[in-house]
Amino acid sequence: MPSADDTRVGRATRRQFLFGGATAGIGVAAGAAGGILAVQALGAEQPAPTAPPHGEQRVPFFGAHQAGIATDAQAHALFLGLDLRADVDRADLGRLMRLLTDDAARLTQGRPALADTEPELAVSPARLTVTFGFGPALVARAGGPAPAWLAPLPAFSIDRLQPAFSDGDLLVQIAADDPLTVAHAARMLLKDARRFTTVRWSQPGFRRAHGTERPGTTMRNLFGQVDGTSNPQPGTADFDRVVWSDEGWLTGGTSAVIRRIRMDLDSWDKLDRDGREASVGRTLDTGAPLTGTSEHDEPDLEAKNRLGFPVIPVFAHLRRSRSDNPHERIFRRAYNYDAAPAGDAVSDSGLLFVSFQADVARQFTPLQRRLDELDLLNQWTTPIGSAVFAIPPGCAEHGFIGDTLLG
Ligand code: HEM
Repeated sequence: MPSADDTRVGRATRRQFLFGGATAGIGVAAGAAGGILAVQALGAEQPAPTAPPHGEQRVPFFGAHQAGIATDAQAHALFLGLDLRADVDRADLGRLMRLLTDDAARLTQGRPALADTEPELAVSPARLTVTFGFGPALVARAGGPAPAWLAPLPAFSIDRLQPAFSDGDLLVQIAADDPLTVAHAARMLLKDARRFTTVRWSQPGFRRAHGTERPGTTMRNLFGQVDGTSNPQPGTADFDRVVWSDEGWLTGGTSAVIRRIRMDLDSWDKLDRDGREASVGRTLDTGAPLTGTSEHDEPDLEAKNRLGFPVIPVFAHLRRSRSDNPHERIFRRAYNYDAAPAGDAVSDSGLLFVSFQADVARQFTPLQRRLDELDLLNQWTTPIGSAVFAIPPGCAEHGFIGDTLLG
């Protein structure tokens, strides 16, 4: 039997051969030396043998706020929009949320769900979070007071909404750095829910795979733009002000707006780089504002070019999505989607735009209205789905998500 070392050298030599080092005429000694170099290179790719795999990382489930909002966005997410069955009453809602809370708490901590049929799939939570949200009909069925903003958004002229991606009574946002973990959690939670709900829509989304980029790198969308630069930072008083509600049973919770926005990559392809950068007002390479040099430079909205025109165009997304009103701010936590193109299309892609804010009507709607009136990006983007949910606060260990409304 070859020793482990022999095997590694053998592998390395094959690798070196593949990359052209071991061409005809190279002797055994040279081959072995190359092998050692290659072994070192291979070694550098491996994490330290004692480091626990990333899959074991857990995000606490219980607490004042639900996880999956301030949590550093995971690589994969699945958004499920569920409809309540006709006969579900308030008591059933309590039962449903207890079941879902219990299994979500287990799975996020790497423990199998109560009736887990594939318990081995539960042991790598990979920072799994499960976040629940209530639509208008669920709050009505609970007999609870609904925040005034808990309703479909007003109609916007840019919208081409499809019912198959819109509304819903119960949101389940499942996110983790591993897609198998997400799939397993989704199946377990849907099994819990199926006595009470049916699936209205299911929308998977992704960012870069874990480990592809340095932690803290702002995500890119499928237009290639750095997306999420100007965002309240979790852990700051600013974030807390923008995101967390202090309204009745929702105190410590928030709201989620989820919009499926198609991005027309085919017409975007026809736009030159200057046009692409002008549409947002930021460069594509670093995401710096057109008036700056690095991503987090403050944009200078007054700056003019040689001809006297604003450097950041008047219709640029950056300018239009900013407001002088300090209340009109949101926390964005979007994911890309890339569905199956049909016929002669080469893409069916876009953004699962997700934003969290304490009050939709006060913070989100005015921004969307401004963008509806004027935004260069509208030429290449079309909202095709839209939903609004109240996100209850987190819960204590023996409580359940929604207990401030249903308990
Ligand atoms: C597919 C649709 C969209 C794309 C591709 C997109 C892309 C971008 C990009 C590249 C930026 C600049 C970098 C950054 O600060 O994140 C940005 C900023 C921003 N976007 Fe969007 N966005 C889209 C939809 C929306 C929608 C629907 C809203 C809200 C109604 C929105 C609100 C904002 C806000 C508030 C900023 C930060 C502005 C600032 O303070 O500088 N975006 N977006």
